[in-house]
Amino acid sequence: MKKEVAKLLRKALKEKGVALKGDEIENLIEIPPNSEMGDYAFPCFSLSEKLKDSPEQIAIELREKIGNEPQTDFEDIQTKGPYLNFFLNRKSFARQTVWYVITWKKDFGKAESGKGKKVIVEFSSPNIAKPFGIGHLRSTIIGNSLANIFEFQGFKVIKINYLGDWGTQFGKLIFGYKKFGSEKKLGKNPIKHLLEIYVKANKKKYEKNAREEFKKLEEGDKKSLMLWRLFRNFSLEDFKKIYKRFGIKFDVYTGESSYNKKARQIIEELKNKGIVKKSKGAFVVDLTKYGLQTAMVEKTDGTTLYATRDLAAAIDRYKEYNFEKMIYEVGQEQQLHFMQFFKILELMGYKWAKNCVHVSHGFYLDKSGKKFATRKGKTILMNDILTETISLAKKEIIKRNKKISKKDLEEKMLKIAIAAIFYGDLKNNRTNNIPFDIKKFISFEGDTGPYIQYSYARAGSILKKAPEQKKFEVRELEEKEIELVKKLSQFPEAVLNAGKNLSPSIIANYSYQLAQIFNEFYHSCKVIGSEQEAFRLALVQSFRQVLKNSLKLLGIETVEKM
Ligand code: ARG
Repeated sequence: MKKEVAKLLRKALKEKGVALKGDEIENLIEIPPNSEMGDYAFPCFSLSEKLKDSPEQIAIELREKIGNEPQTDFEDIQTKGPYLNFFLNRKSFARQTVWYVITWKKDFGKAESGKGKKVIVEFSSPNIAKPFGIGHLRSTIIGNSLANIFEFQGFKVIKINYLGDWGTQFGKLIFGYKKFGSEKKLGKNPIKHLLEIYVKANKKKYEKNAREEFKKLEEGDKKSLMLWRLFRNFSLEDFKKIYKRFGIKFDVYTGESSYNKKARQIIEELKNKGIVKKSKGAFVVDLTKYGLQTAMVEKTDGTTLYATRDLAAAIDRYKEYNFEKMIYEVGQEQQLHFMQFFKILELMGYKWAKNCVHVSHGFYLDKSGKKFATRKGKTILMNDILTETISLAKKEIIKRNKKISKKDLEEKMLKIAIAAIFYGDLKNNRTNNIPFDIKKFISFEGDTGPYIQYSYARAGSILKKAPEQKKFEVRELEEKEIELVKKLSQFPEAVLNAGKNLSPSIIANYSYQLAQIFNEFYHSCKVIGSEQEAFRLALVQSFRQVLKNSLKLLGIETVEKM
């Protein structure tokens, strides 16, 4: 509806010689604090200077220009001082909105703006031979949601998991396995065993041995490669189990190892283009001119680095996908790395470097406000967190439903646990450091994932009691009804903004507000047995649909009964 307001204004402004774009006008439109001042308001202050007139006078003139437009969307348009206030034709607006949602269902809110364009979203990207820790959780949750949001806008999205599967740590691991490893233990609990080995081998006195082993690996030594592949497979299996429970899928699993050889070619390319220089036996790119630190691309022993492999991977991906945009969802501690690597791409002459974006996030904080990564000195494993959350969810469910079947319980507790963890993250601005507090996240009350799921289930139980759906007619609307209708109509705009700002929190906050307004509506408006029954049932149905669509973008599933 905001669009309709903007349309009217655009035409009127044009007649006054002001050429503003639709979305520029939309940005100026305000939602008045109470509906006596209309449903939308357009303040005229910013035009005053240009039109050399008072905002009050401009409002009057714009009103006159709009005056003769035949239209049915608004009941009234009034000037009030420097404002132009638009009053919706509420009945037709309500009818239209509900009709739209019920017709488009899971596609309500979808856009076509991304049609024909490819976006790469690289996210999660854990390091193999280490357990999936909480350190990669944010990237997994946010990246997944961004991918969903882009897809919903019509983009072709390629989800890439770029594993940390190459580097000196594998020298340590191979050396460690040869010295301390046991085939039996590896078969039994590979990740645990690899972690033990890593801890033992990660000592100063073994540094030289580890470096030698890594060099062998880089040179393609068969035995080393065999061990490496074994470790990689075990890890990947383990990660995939977690993604499966999360309901997250990737289109491509790749990793640093795939770009080891290509990274060598990059060094050649950099040399040919005259971008690198030798410094103490290593090759570096001097970026000080651009206010960045010098970046190393080849070590003194001739091996490549993380940055070199990233260069190779980016170039390779552009060749393969010809992407419109490539997003790297990686923690903010790697900000310098991405700035350097994007700059080098630019210096190499790749114009598309400007379409690569590092979408960063802050870290989780514990109760005392410190970085949340270890517990009693041990890294926190994702599996443990998930198990803990699931058991909390289980308690909550059983409290409400003692007779639930085992199968039902298992399915629900996972969905609720995921909602708790994902929403607990996504409701925050991603760049902030945020508290990680499972007990709060799992609560069925307040600004939490389970609360939103609960609202959905509650709406479902109303519909179950309802008689056969009839055609509805909209009569006089109560305040809470119109609020709910307005919120529903804002979903497409929320999706758009979330994509534009790379910010799933817009969708998360929208979901919460929608659930809240629904609960207020439900408290103040009787549904079944009221005169407005048919319309209100359709409204409840629309609410469920939009909330479901919205949660889906966050990677959260709905539950029919809690
Ligand atoms: N594996 C890396 C880490 O855990 C993250 C990879 C990020 N992606 C990239 N293209 N560099 O720190």
